[in-house]
Amino acid sequence: MPLEFRGPERVGITLNVNGRRVEVHVEPRRTLLSVLREELGLTGAKEGCGEGNCGACTVLLDGRSIYACLTLAVDCEGREIRTIEGLSRGGELHPVQEAFVEKDGYQCGFCTSGQIMSAVALLEEKPSPTEEEVRRGMVGNLCRCGAYPNIVEAVLAAVGREGGLDAED
Ligand code: FES
Ligand code: FES
Repeated sequence: MPLEFRGPERVGITLNVNGRRVEVHVEPRRTLLSVLREELGLTGAKEGCGEGNCGACTVLLDGRSIYACLTLAVDCEGREIRTIEGLSRGGELHPVQEAFVEKDGYQCGFCTSGQIMSAVALLEEKPSPTEEEVRRGMVGNLCRCGAYPNIVEAVLAAVGREGGLDAED
């Protein structure tokens, strides 16, 4: 009798992404990063190392920055996920995005969405950080282009921007 191959079991989960509830059917082993990129078309978060070293995949989970490459999608059910795609409002860039543009906080741009999401989490938790606190807060995000001075300058420039830093406003 021929062996019957059944693909991996999938489970249905509901994710809250950028304020919208979406239902997906995924294998339990799938990472949040792969589900965001491949199932939901949210390709802002990048896969750099895939093993928790570079920060290119950074998104916010319940307001805290996390590596989406190390996070299982099934563990995110019922929690609030924010990605770079959810930052702008009504065509206006988020203050941190604006500051990155103004201060040239990037070169190739591969790390940029992760840098911005970490900066948003940092400033929401600590609205007036010192330069040292910014450097420490962004330590989990690597930039192979070495744009660090401009990245730090951009994060500091975003402090106290009119309109605040809450993307939900
Ligand atoms: S891709 Fe997630 S930390 Fe590098
Ligand atoms: S801007 Fe190229 S890796 Fe950071």
